[in-house]
Amino acid sequence: MKEKTLVLIKPDAFEKNHTGEIIAIYEKKGLKLCAMKLMQMTKRVAQKHYAEHIGRPYYEELESFMTSAPLVAMVLEGDDAIARVREINGKTNPAEAAEGTVRRLFAESVGKNAVHASDSPESAAREIAIFFSEIEIFD
Ligand code: TYD
Ligand code: MG
Repeated sequence: MKEKTLVLIKPDAFEKNHTGEIIAIYEKKGLKLCAMKLMQMTKRVAQKHYAEHIGRPYYEELESFMTSAPLVAMVLEGDDAIARVREINGKTNPAEAAEGTVRRLFAESVGKNAVHASDSPESAAREIAIFFSEIEIFD
């Protein structure tokens, strides 16, 4: 089934010029870019995007990191895209991420872990709507 998922190339990976390499990994796996922009998250957007994490011990650091510098937001489309992109990205903690995954290749730590991807159809719909309007999504 064709799905759309929200991907963020986080400030650490963008700053280190890994954007092109990361996008190439997704494209080579057959995922299609259907929206993309360079932007900086505000606190308000971070709180909306990471709403379920507010109050966790790592939240303040997560919000501060995600709002610290520009990131690349995109929507990827493909068969089973939500699960496939999570697989390609690897585990949250790069030390546990499988060989060849984006986080194994480019993440520095659990916090500065290079990429975000939606984890369910519900979160994909919710997150895409935070970053993109209807006229910015091409399919
Ligand atoms: P989570 O949704 O659990 O991971 P994922 O990004 O793989 O979906 O957590 C969201 C982000 O919060 C995660 O990418 C990095 C940060 N985080 C920490 O800094 N420390 C932690 O212990 C956890 C669980 C997350
Ligand atoms: Mg998550």
